[in-house]
Amino acid sequence: MTTWGGRFSSDNPGTEARAFTSSFRLDQRFYRESIAGSIAHASMLGHTNIITGDESESLMAGLRKIRSELDSDGFPNDYSHEDIYAFIEDKLHKLVGPVAGKLHTARSRNDQVATDFRLYVKGGIARLASEINQMRTVLLTVADREVQTVFPGMTHLQVAQPILLPHLLLAYEQMLKRDLQLANHAYLTADVSPLGSGALAGVPYPIDSEISAKLLGFSQVSRNSLDAVSDRDFVTQFLFAATMTSIHLSKFAEEIIIWNSQPYSLVSIHDSYATGSSIMPQKKNPDVAELTRAKTGTMIGIMSGFLSVLKGLPLAYNLDLQEDKEAVFRTEDTLLPAIKTFSGMLSTLTINHEQARKVAESGFSTATDLADALVQTGMTFRKAHETVGEIVHHLESKNESLDSLSADTLASFAPGVNYETIRLDTKSSIDSRRSYSGTAQVNVTLQIEEAKSHLAENRQLWGKRSPNLDL
Ligand code: ARG
Repeated sequence: MTTWGGRFSSDNPGTEARAFTSSFRLDQRFYRESIAGSIAHASMLGHTNIITGDESESLMAGLRKIRSELDSDGFPNDYSHEDIYAFIEDKLHKLVGPVAGKLHTARSRNDQVATDFRLYVKGGIARLASEINQMRTVLLTVADREVQTVFPGMTHLQVAQPILLPHLLLAYEQMLKRDLQLANHAYLTADVSPLGSGALAGVPYPIDSEISAKLLGFSQVSRNSLDAVSDRDFVTQFLFAATMTSIHLSKFAEEIIIWNSQPYSLVSIHDSYATGSSIMPQKKNPDVAELTRAKTGTMIGIMSGFLSVLKGLPLAYNLDLQEDKEAVFRTEDTLLPAIKTFSGMLSTLTINHEQARKVAESGFSTATDLADALVQTGMTFRKAHETVGEIVHHLESKNESLDSLSADTLASFAPGVNYETIRLDTKSSIDSRRSYSGTAQVNVTLQIEEAKSHLAENRQLWGKRSPNLDL
């Protein structure tokens, strides 16, 4: 059955076109949002006397019954319906009789689908936020456990300066915190009810859009009906928040793959998060990290694909917009398992402390500290930089490290500098970096505490945000 048979001849739509244009398989995923949207609409129609109170009650009771049947039995294996709307209306007719025909008064599928999908995406964003916060919890747990672990800080993938490992973990925590800001922005964009916009121009009934919006937990009502039925910014913003999260995960995955490789050996991935090779018996591969990195490519593809769908669409509704479902569902199904599994891998990762310290000490990593010490004696930083560069050059040619810098060598390059006051060990280097965003222990400990309290607050915020669909 279609919801628009009257205008067409009996063989409409043809089997091929029907199969191609139907969205029923995908729509099933948001039947609860769709039924909630219809209950809110039926309630509003009753409150405004567009239909009688009894009619409204009977529509709502029928819709609730359909919901509980679908909750327990799922969907029949029959895909002849055009979409979820045709399916539910058909069922409603069978349950409550001709009054079912009144449900679609003052409504179009265009404002209906926009409403239902906003509800779904609001839930999807809350699920994403909860997964991100779960990963932040793991990061903070590892940061707590490794609070004193010295690690090589890199630039250009070259050992640069020693840092504390928790400082690095907290850098990822900051990225995830920004992803939550993007998610928050997407959530606020989605939190607007299009119901009452009709097909495109509004409706001629004395509706009260505030009633249905409030019942569905939307904080605002769309101001412009043309925009309301065609706007999918809430989708693109969700896709962007998810893709950025994925990009951050991918960067981290890449680091872990490098650290876990034999030449680095800074970390060891736990057996439960690694796989083997079918030919090389000794292999233990970082598949979870690799696939996490790859999923990001898939995510970028989904997002740019959907942006291309939107480009050049004239106002108002076009069926092109139906592609929003696939973009959102695939994004959720790609990203959420990746965050979950990646977090598991992270929580079981072993840090090879000895090796981390050795690498952190290598590559003249405290050369900047020596330059800073020379600045203390009154030298300009530029001069100090040049002098230490010469010292490094000299030591390198003798295959020596900064540890072996003698008082005589120092004196020959920087006469008059007090050798005794110079500290070039990694601990002193780290402890000296007390600037607000620096890696010193006091700072890192404070960062962990701040992150923990932000996390607790943020969990509370999102905890309240899953839409109530049990109207
Ligand atoms: N399946 C459609 C979608 O997801 C529902 C709205 C159809 N509206 C229309 N005028 N054909 O976008």
